[in-house]
Amino acid sequence: MTTPTTPDGVTAPFSPAAPITFVGGKGGVGKTTLAAAHALALADAGRRVLVVSTDPAHSLGDALERPLSDEPTPIAPGLWAAEPDADAAVRRRIAHVAEDARRAVPREVMPAVHRHLEQAGASPGMAESALADLLVDRMEEVGDRWDHLVVDSAPTGHLLRLLHLPTLLTPWVRGLTRQRERARRAEALADVVGSGGDEADDPLLERLHARRHRLERAAARLREDAVVTLVTLPRRMVLAETGRAVDQLSEAGFRLAPVIVNQIPPDGAAGPDGARALTLTQERFAHLGVVRVPLQDGEPTGPERLRRLVPFLDAVPAR
Ligand SMILES: Nc1ncnc2c1ncn2[C@@H]1O[C@H](COP(=O)(O)OP(=O)(O)OP(=O)(O)O)[C@@H](O)[C@H]1O
Ligand SMILES: [Mg+2]
Repeated sequence: MTTPTTPDGVTAPFSPAAPITFVGGKGGVGKTTLAAAHALALADAGRRVLVVSTDPAHSLGDALERPLSDEPTPIAPGLWAAEPDADAAVRRRIAHVAEDARRAVPREVMPAVHRHLEQAGASPGMAESALADLLVDRMEEVGDRWDHLVVDSAPTGHLLRLLHLPTLLTPWVRGLTRQRERARRAEALADVVGSGGDEADDPLLERLHARRHRLERAAARLREDAVVTLVTLPRRMVLAETGRAVDQLSEAGFRLAPVIVNQIPPDGAAGPDGARALTLTQERFAHLGVVRVPLQDGEPTGPERLRRLVPFLDAVPAR
């Protein structure tokens, strides 16, 4: 697919869109709304799209005006949406870790492992990493079940942690694998009859290897197939935070799509401060491209009203 160009030389940044798009930005800027609108635009262009929310405080269902759940729900032709259940994800993850530990550590250590997991299960970090795990599952489906995955992300700090997670988790899984391999070697040495016991018969090692490969694939995919598009507002403070997020994300090696300035009031209504902030925003992010979305009358919820935002998402100055 070639990038369409309009007569006045603007290109459409989201068509062809990246296989995976994270929509990020400060709280309340319009991430959920624009993730839903972008997903709808791709589906209307004939692609199979899944839009998911990774914010434990879901509002994607409100934006689409449909109740959503863990399982992708059909919304419009070509469009599915899901709101992962963080609590269920935490429970699944704890069960997995407990199962790995049960096979890897001596039985007398298990009560301590359970106590630790109970505490960890209540921490916000666990919910975040369990959601990241779910996201990795969804990412694995891209190219097969979906042409595009659009991720409505929680505010920037969370997005950064989420994007780093596969890389952070990989050493942990690697460490556990090494420990298990050592234990296996010790078992083999102790095993005088030599009843075998190579790696292929060790379900835990197989699981750990599979998990490590899955995380490595996800980390590579995030760098190769994913872009982050940041949503901002024509306000100086929001601009400052968006600038920091752009710097952090690029330093972390992520590709950035054009920045979307959302909720731009009709001409003049924003006053000199708003106009100045808009100019500064355009200058600051000129290297990425800037998309401008006007403030709508009322909340743009439901497919029909969300579609009104699509023409704005498509227009960005050519780079
Ligand atoms: N262009 C727009 N015009 C008018 N209202 C808008 C526009 N974009 C978003 N909104 C409204 O602004 C509010 C915040 O939008 P949204 O929930 O998409 O933001 P968010 O960044 O996802 O927020 P949170 O950080 O809480 O998840 C919603 O009421 C939404 O309907
Ligand atoms: Mg939101």
